Amino acid sequence: MTGKDEERSAFDWEARFADDDAPWERGQMHPAFLHWKETGAFDQIGSIVVPGCGRAPEVAGFAEMGLKTHAADLSETAINWQRKHLDECNLTAELFTGDILDWTPAEPVDAVYEQTFLCAIHPRLRETYEAALLRWLRPGGQVFALFMQKEERGGPPYGCPIGVMHTVFPENRWIWPEGELTAWPHPSLGGKAELGAILTRR
Ligand SMILES: C[S@@+](CC[C@H](N)C(=O)[O-])C[C@H]1O[C@@H](n2cnc3c(N)ncnc32)[C@H](O)[C@@H]1O
Repeated sequence: MTGKDEERSAFDWEARFADDDAPWERGQMHPAFLHWKETGAFDQIGSIVVPGCGRAPEVAGFAEMGLKTHAADLSETAINWQRKHLDECNLTAELFTGDILDWTPAEPVDAVYEQTFLCAIHPRLRETYEAALLRWLRPGGQVFALFMQKEERGGPPYGCPIGVMHTVFPENRWIWPEGELTAWPHPSLGGKAELGAILTRR
């Protein structure tokens, strides 16, 4: 393993899935996903990336909407779960096991669904992640983000306070929504809220 690989996989995600120890999972579609779907926020999108997809059912949700869906995870167990779930639903998506931060799509995509991936990676990787988002998205592309609010130090999950997020996703590269962000409390993780925001790549 190189230093970079060690840093990116320091947490043993594969072991967590193999032990079925995944308290970040809601066990159902994220209410923000359902809200965005019901309000037509995904209607103009043809392609989407779900980084660090784990066993998130939203991958199948996007495939069911007819979107070209790319999803990746370091954990083979998680990707095998996605493959089986998609097969059972008679749906398809582009899946791969590996480090999504090194990936580049064949063509820029319309959107990224950011659900408990940013809070899972070490804060040192946030710049790398922002650079990857700029590489993946076409100009005008959107990030559907759920920023984990957590005051305690350390992680994962690492807290993503909105002030810090404005530094990671600066106004000269990203258009932020106006007004208050909606808080979506997590049913586990001590009820911590995730703040939903749709960011647009300039
Ligand atoms: C907290 S889990 C969230 C999983 C999923 N997004 C969900 O909402 O259930 C974080 C996920 O990111 C994956 N992950 C972490 N670093 C990664 C990387 N560099 N490339 C791809 N996946 C990664 C982990 O394997 C894990 O499945």
